[in-house]
Amino acid sequence: MPVLRAGTRPDTWAVVTGTTAYVVAVESDPATGEARVLQRYWGPRLPGDALAAPLPPAPPRVDSSFFDPRDTAELLPVEGGTRWGVPSLQVTYPGDIRSVEFRYTSARMDGERLTVTLRDDAFGLEADLHVEAVGEVIERWTTLRLDASAPGAVAVGRLDSGNWEIPERDAYRYTGVYGAQLLENQVQRGELPVGETTFTSRSGTTSHRANPWIMIDAGDATEEHGEVWSVALAWSGSWRLTAQHRPEGDLAVTAGFGHDGPRWRLAPGESLETPRVLGLHTTGGFGAASRAWHAYTREHVSPAPREDRPVLYNSWEATAFDVTEEGQLDLARRAGAIGVELFVVDDGWFHRRDSDDRGLGDWWPDRAKFPEGMTRLFDRVRDLGMAAGLWVEPEMVNPDSELYRAHPDWVLHYPGRRRDTLRDQLVLNFAREDVRDWALGWLDRLVGEHRLAFLKWDMNRGFTQAGQPGERSDMLWIEHTRGVYAVLDELRRRHPGLRIESCSGGGGRVDLGILRRADQVWTSDNTDARDRQGIQHGMSHVYPANVMAAWVTDAPNPITMREVPLRYRFHVAMAGVLAVGADVRRWSEEDADEARELVARYKAIRPVVQHGTLHRLTGDPGVTRSALQYTLDDLVVVLAYNPYATGKRGPRRLRLAGLDPDAVYEVVEGDDPLKGARWHGAALMAVGVAVPSWFIVGPDYRSDLVVFRKVPS
Ligand code: DGJ
Repeated sequence: MPVLRAGTRPDTWAVVTGTTAYVVAVESDPATGEARVLQRYWGPRLPGDALAAPLPPAPPRVDSSFFDPRDTAELLPVEGGTRWGVPSLQVTYPGDIRSVEFRYTSARMDGERLTVTLRDDAFGLEADLHVEAVGEVIERWTTLRLDASAPGAVAVGRLDSGNWEIPERDAYRYTGVYGAQLLENQVQRGELPVGETTFTSRSGTTSHRANPWIMIDAGDATEEHGEVWSVALAWSGSWRLTAQHRPEGDLAVTAGFGHDGPRWRLAPGESLETPRVLGLHTTGGFGAASRAWHAYTREHVSPAPREDRPVLYNSWEATAFDVTEEGQLDLARRAGAIGVELFVVDDGWFHRRDSDDRGLGDWWPDRAKFPEGMTRLFDRVRDLGMAAGLWVEPEMVNPDSELYRAHPDWVLHYPGRRRDTLRDQLVLNFAREDVRDWALGWLDRLVGEHRLAFLKWDMNRGFTQAGQPGERSDMLWIEHTRGVYAVLDELRRRHPGLRIESCSGGGGRVDLGILRRADQVWTSDNTDARDRQGIQHGMSHVYPANVMAAWVTDAPNPITMREVPLRYRFHVAMAGVLAVGADVRRWSEEDADEARELVARYKAIRPVVQHGTLHRLTGDPGVTRSALQYTLDDLVVVLAYNPYATGKRGPRRLRLAGLDPDAVYEVVEGDDPLKGARWHGAALMAVGVAVPSWFIVGPDYRSDLVVFRKVPS
């Protein structure tokens, strides 16, 4: 969809998608020339005639010396002029001047993209505000440029990708996720207090503690009904998202890279471009918002979205650092026998890596563990019919390593200050070209020599003492992340078949920036099936099933000590990219047989789970009866869970969603008495079906996999 000229005034545009319109206008003060770029509308797409005519005007402004309603409507409110809201751009000019005075210079309409340029003449600073329709999403970002002839450098305290005004409603409610390592993506929903609510990461990565997205509704949206506005940031370093709910009733969300504190120095002739912030308006409740995010991720973000992600085995929970060629081969044989397609050796394979206090940085196979190198192991893995993958943590170094002894200056540090280790490791500075070259060099060799199909790229500590010698220290918060992106992009370019999993101590680096170069993410180090249901539920709000890696591990679970039956563990992991992370050497023959059967079932439903549309049908996942439905073409896959036998408390029937009401559906897979039954789509949605695992009498941890096929009419 193109950018349209909207209304009858010259500087008004509508950026439209199939379902949404986003209308932008420039308003210049006739006396001072100061420009504000204002959001006039964001919501359902209006007919062409309505967009071509002037929109009803904003309410008249109260003449106030304390408040200006336009602050929240600006696409990039600056610190400067008569503004008191949250600035999206904050700079300090030479002479400690902090007032930006932009005038409007031009606008370009280029296919799907609108770029509005503003300029502060006195200091030679220009800002491009970009707006682009990509699928159903409005993408926005900012480029800041300082003239080569500018009077001096500027310090940038905040440069957000963009500010979004949420249209006026009677109330505003927030939905997002908080978390922690081992408990990522916990959904929280509540009224947004009047004030400024900031969600942020200061750790240099996306973080476990929050995820850079927010959904706003008027307090009336349900899973299947209601308008929802979402904003998400495509960035994998520190970030900040502020929801500003003003006493006068307006609500705006501004988001961008970086956190409070660091200041970026822009010298004359330099420019700085933000990552993209994404806005999505949907009707159809939180479920529709999630489905739209999934579609956008698959169609416009993921590097290889049409592929089926393979069932992988990962050695971490089985062997930790106790890696040997024979031990891994033993795991590989057993994994291959249950249907695994990709065998991944996790941590512990490289030089002197017997524990977490040494070895990071020395990325060659440990001679004691692999006297002949790892080629033989990977060849055997391939002989067993599986592809080969390996764990790496390229951004890290242990002080006890040959790399650190040779290059102590490569880590984040301030001269003369302590370098505190966490997990006995320090962060390599990927803002440095020599560090990036080094990383790309060994990664390229490793992948090429071993014909690796997969890398798990881990990152196990937050940034501290994040400095580098010279004047550009704070820039590394941005440049490290860009450096990681650059290495990943180049590695993929050199090895087009390589697939990558992003991991950061579990789900600490999950975002729409890393997903441009990572095919999937490690969801959490908490592999307990019941906890996982809540974690996966939160993650599903934005990220689709085909990026969410989910392992079946042992019982009792090593973290929670909970005993959950194998079938339930599988059914939970089948809701994403199924993998096995158990010590399969300890499995009985019955376990292995059951696993083989469940892996085969997953492969049969995989296209539907990984590429279909998701309906979160009901329940509090992991706590009450709950169910997920995936639909692709004529197939409908339902995963139903009953973790906790609650006697007579319901629900007892499961109502499906999004079916063709006029079609008949047949149960082609499912336990008695469902198998072979036929019902109308309308009945399945209105009346519901009794799934066996929801029967009131029975033990904890019952689950069902039910597959319906639409009967051709
Ligand atoms: C943290 C990851 O989340 C784990 O899965 C595992 O790869 C360890 N690191 C290895 O050190």
